[in-house]
Amino acid sequence: MKTREDLLFGDLRRIHQAITRALETSGTRFDQVVEAKEDDDATYLGLALYLKTLFELFVSHHHGEDTIGFPALEARSKEFDLEPLRQDHHRMHPLLVEGKQLAEKILRRTSTVSPDDDARLREIIVQLSRLWTAHVGPEETCFSCELAMTCLTAGERDRLTHELSRHGQQALKPMSRFAAFIYYHLDQDDQAAFVKPIPGFVARFLIAIVWKGSWKPMAPFLLQEAAPGTGLRV
Ligand SMILES: [Fe+2]
Ligand SMILES: [Fe+2]
Repeated sequence: MKTREDLLFGDLRRIHQAITRALETSGTRFDQVVEAKEDDDATYLGLALYLKTLFELFVSHHHGEDTIGFPALEARSKEFDLEPLRQDHHRMHPLLVEGKQLAEKILRRTSTVSPDDDARLREIIVQLSRLWTAHVGPEETCFSCELAMTCLTAGERDRLTHELSRHGQQALKPMSRFAAFIYYHLDQDDQAAFVKPIPGFVARFLIAIVWKGSWKPMAPFLLQEAAPGTGLRV
């Protein structure tokens, strides 16, 4: 059974899981999609929307940690040294901004996308994957460590969870695209936890049907087996 103390870490871990899987998928699929783009423009555009969503989620997630999550821990104990994690965010930021601009250039279709643009986007994915892999382990250790669990009360952790969630909802527009992006990168248990505030069938109905227009172009890159047993497929 999940305790109240699990909520904050659970939410962070789910965002991390979505980012990790999206970086893996991007890295694996990128070359094949770009090589076939003359024949399959829709999938190339879907990849651009997928990457734009990933980069925007990344930036919002880091901003939430820098301005809400990390200060809350630091205010409670001097033992937290979060500066290395902040430096990681700082190193990733220019790559995320440039990657988002390139993805938007592809999506705008008003200027020619050069092979150099594709190559640069590929390189950005590789560099981000390297930086992210080194970052996510220490960060999860920090948020799940005994000190973090004990220096904030259950009520404070709940409030922090709520603040981080509200920050994401304000930063990520349209929320439907980001909610589907995260949802379809999670395992079934985490999908259920992710939509817990909303009744399950309503959440699945919203994500799978009502909001489908906002995420459908990204479908080739989302999990193919979403919530087995629910009848839902990407
Ligand atoms: Fe994080
Ligand atoms: Fe982080």
